[in-house]
Amino acid sequence: MNKINIRPYRTEDRTALRTLCCDVADRGGPIENFFPDREVAEDLLTKYYTDYEPQSTFVAECDGRVVGYINGCMDNRSYGLVMFWLLMPALLIKAFKRGIFFRSEIHQILRGSLKNWRRIFVWRKKSFHSHQGHLHIGIAGDFRGQQVGRSLVGALVVHALGKGITELAASVHDANKAAGAFFESQGFVVRERYPMILIRDGKEEHYHSLLYVKTI
Ligand SMILES: CC(C)(COP(=O)(O)OP(=O)(O)OC[C@H]1O[C@@H](n2cnc3c(N)ncnc32)[C@H](O)[C@@H]1OP(=O)(O)O)[C@@H](O)C(=O)NCCC(=O)NCCS
Repeated sequence: MNKINIRPYRTEDRTALRTLCCDVADRGGPIENFFPDREVAEDLLTKYYTDYEPQSTFVAECDGRVVGYINGCMDNRSYGLVMFWLLMPALLIKAFKRGIFFRSEIHQILRGSLKNWRRIFVWRKKSFHSHQGHLHIGIAGDFRGQQVGRSLVGALVVHALGKGITELAASVHDANKAAGAFFESQGFVVRERYPMILIRDGKEEHYHSLLYVKTI
């Protein structure tokens, strides 16, 4: 196996990072398992990190290929403001133009989101409305279990310490046992558990969103 290099994100990684993020978004599987429009999902999941705070993202590269990423945010409150006032309105317009509101899968997702209103509007405020940080991480399937995730968390922790951050959080679906075990191995502990509903193939999936936090 060739050397895997952990380095800061560069603008030219943007397309590869967006693709990888959607390839692993469903607990390691592709976003299409529950969301029908990849381009909208790419914006929703990555645009804040690549376009508004790129200095807090790190990638793992092997032979010129981006095989892992960690998207970081060093101020949850700024993230919330940018998402709510800038990115979400633009995304709604884009989604509308792409006709996704006419798709039945989206109606299901919107119905699920309405049922999750407490998580989105009440609990999110409590958990993410701070000046601390959070992260999202994803490793390509053929590069998991090779300490890439550990190295990316290490790089982000060093960066966060330099910014005066004392807490990093990550949200994990409780069925994602690999991610739970990974975060626990990196010193994260579950601080909150929020009941959630995801509608998949017309059926309600009840689960908990676990808020993992690491004090650094
Ligand atoms: C979770 C994920 C980021 C882990 O990355 P990784 O590079 O495979 O993890 P590492 O090789 O650095 O593992 C570090 C430690 O985490 C734990 N761990 C990692 N994967 C694990 C698994 N599948 N089962 C149990 N423990 C695991 C182990 O303790 C491991 O230490 P060890 O190798 O000494 O046993 C990766 O599996 C992934 O990208 N999953 C899909 C996306 C995702 O779920 N992201 C998290 C939600 S934000």
